[in-house]
Formats: sequence, C-alpha cells, structure tokens
Amino acid sequence: MTRSSRLPGFYKLPLAERRAELARALHLDDETALLLSHNLLDEETADHMVENVVGVYGLPLGIGLNFQINGADYLVPMCVEEPSVVAAASNAAKMIRAGGGFVAEADDPIMISQVQLTSVPDTVHAKKRIEAHASEIVALADQAYPSLCKRGGGTRGIEVRVLERESQSGPGMLAVHLHVDVRDAMGANLVNTIAEAVSDRLAELASGQVGLRILSNLADRRCVRVRARIEPGDLATDSHAGEAVRDGIVSASRFAELDPYRAATHNTGIMNGIDAVVIATGNDWRGVEAGAHAFAATKGAGGGYGPLATWKVGRGGLDEGCLIGQLELPLAVGTVGGTLRVHPGARLALKLLGVERASELGMVMASVGMASNLAALRALASEGIQRGHMSLHARSVALGAGATGEQVELIAAELAESGDVRPERATEILARLRRNGGFSGIQA
Ligand code: MEV
Repeated sequence: MTRSSRLPGFYKLPLAERRAELARALHLDDETALLLSHNLLDEETADHMVENVVGVYGLPLGIGLNFQINGADYLVPMCVEEPSVVAAASNAAKMIRAGGGFVAEADDPIMISQVQLTSVPDTVHAKKRIEAHASEIVALADQAYPSLCKRGGGTRGIEVRVLERESQSGPGMLAVHLHVDVRDAMGANLVNTIAEAVSDRLAELASGQVGLRILSNLADRRCVRVRARIEPGDLATDSHAGEAVRDGIVSASRFAELDPYRAATHNTGIMNGIDAVVIATGNDWRGVEAGAHAFAATKGAGGGYGPLATWKVGRGGLDEGCLIGQLELPLAVGTVGGTLRVHPGARLALKLLGVERASELGMVMASVGMASNLAALRALASEGIQRGHMSLHARSVALGAGATGEQVELIAAELAESGDVRPERATEILARLRRNGGFSGIQA
C-alpha cells in the first residue's frame, strides 16, 4: 500500500486530531489507532522487562514527516525529549525530498562476535592454526544456532587478530572474530551464544585460555550509507541566500573534519535523529551510540575522531552547485526479538513505519540522522541555533512552570516575544493568567 509522508499542517492540529490524521494516512485499523492514545508501556510488562521496577518513565512520541528514501515514503516515529529535533528533521527531509529524496544502502546484517584468547605462547602459529580450521569453527558456530541458518543467516567467516605478541614479559593475546549474518535481529544474544559455543575449541587450537566472549558494538560490517542532494534555493532563509547557506554548511563540515571538538557536536546533531528512532523502535541506543563514535574515531582529516556525515558542493550534471551530503555509520538494529517482543510501543512504532527488514530500518534511521544534521548546520550557518530553539524552549519552560492546556502556548508566545525565557518569568505570567481567569492579557 503506498503512503505519503507529506502531511501539511500536521503540526498545527490538536493532539487528538493529529492522531486521527496519522491513522487515516497510514490506514491503521481501529485497534492500532486506539493504541496510540494509550500509555504504550503498562506497569506489568515493565515489571517483566527489568528489575526493581517502581514505575514507567515516558517520553514524547513524535512523527518525522516528509521522508522519502529510495523512492518510498516513511512516517517516522521518534522518541526524544529535546524540543525541535522532530520539527527540524521533518523540515530538512522536505528540502532533501525536493532534491530527489534520500538514496540509501545497507550492508548485509553481519555482526562481529569476539573471543579473546589469553596466555597464547606462540601467536603467529596460533593464528595460522585457527585459520587452517576456519571451516570447522564456522560449522561449530552454525550448530550453536541452527534456527538462524534456517532463516538464511549464519556464520560467514572468521578473522584472527593478534593484539599482543608474546615476549619476554609474557605470552600473547588474540581476538578471534566470527562474522555472523543475524538477518533481521539486532543479534547480540545470537552472537554471544555463538562466541561461547566455539571458544573452548579456539583456545585448544591456540594452546591458550578463553577470555571474554561477547559481541563488538563496533559493527563496522553492518554499515548504512546515505546520500542527499539539495538545491541551493531550498536552503535559503529569510535573511540568508541559498548559496551562502550552502557554503556555510560546507565550511561547517570541514570544521568538523579538522576539529574533534566540533566533530563531537556535529555528530550529536546526527545522533539526535538516529537515537530518536532507535528508542522508538525498542533498539539498543547505547550500542548504536558506542558503535557510531568508535566508527567516527578515524573519520577526521588527520585520521582521528571526525564527522559521520560530510557536506560538499556538487560538481557536474544534476549535482552542479547543489549541496551534497554523505553519511556512513554502523547500525546494529533489529526488527525482531529483544525488546520488540515485549514492548507494545516498539511494536507500534515498527507498524507505523511499515518496515520489516532490519536493513530498511537502518536506512530510515541514517536518513533521519542526516536530516537532523542538515537542519542543525543550516541554522548554525544562517541565523544561529538559538532563534528557532527559543520558541520551543519557551514551551518547555511554560510546562515546567505548571502551565496546562491553552496556557502553554499563551505563555510560550509571551516568553519568546519578550526574549526573556526564564522560569521565573513563566511563573509570573501563569499567575497573571490565573488571576485573569485564563485571559492572556499580553502587554504590548
Ligand atoms: C543540539 O542537540 C545539536 C547541535 O548542537 C548540533 C550541531 O551543533 O551541529 C545543534
């Protein structure tokens, strides 16, 4: 069923109507639509998920609009506490859509399972010996998870890495990697089981001892790449011409390549979008974060920490003079198993997204990351970030002061207009509103 991610005016609707509009746009059945208006995680389920549960902690669930990826439209569920992330990503996705949409590709879902071998007396010999027994190890790994092979996954190969050569001060250390195709799972449990199943034989072959057996979160065999193209005219703001914004974004990208202090913030902008989708879909955002930053550790101009996405001016053909963005990062995320089995909100998010394959989910996440990055850089390269943030921040301040219903918008508008967004000011306005029986009485 084709769907459009363009829902003009969506943000202006009251919450209940927004839900109804989403249900219409996605042709949701009544039961699913009803779920949207419920608390998406009940206490009983929460109590089974982790230990010592005393409550359920909520986050806003927003919808990223305008996303078109490899020609298909997606309405993207995003869970995030930071104001402006959803709006900014939706706005940037609209610009990218106008330039032809996101073009994305994903590697096969290969996870790395690590077995540490210690006390290895002759690391060069041990490496050769293990490599000579690679097919035996792969078969042993596949026996540990026959159902994975039935689903088309399984161990594809091994790599032996000498981490420390033996010396006078002691024996050496190896890390043996098993490359496991985990299909649509995130794969942590799968690859941990496999590491444990093959470790004794590996230690025997190396004449060493078994150390750790666990996945690596640097899932660099499971990367996603996204490209986008934006016409300069689509980047223009009220006060800045499109070409000037484009050049500012290119300069910001170079800044991140040259300076790890800037690259960390640049990457935060990317992860703002990615994490929001990772959390909404019940995936492991700590693992994704660790993988992203470990991957970024070699992306700088000098070979150190650098940006996950870079922006250049396009040359030739349709790209001539356009802003061209490229993003690459590992994304170990799944559409089956793990939290998804138990969390109704995560299942709902995947349903809204209409995604079944983990690789497709990764491409959506990376596109949202790229949109978030573009939106932040566009604001930074023109008016600065604070102007847009201020009105959204004002809303949080109003809520924090105890405003409810219509009061939130009234107070936020007055705070933003006056440029004084302090909580004390919000409390004063709220007191005045209450005295006036709800009437704003905004002073000229
Ligand atoms: C804020 O959460 C993210 C930004 O700082 C990203 C950036 O500076 O590129 C706006």
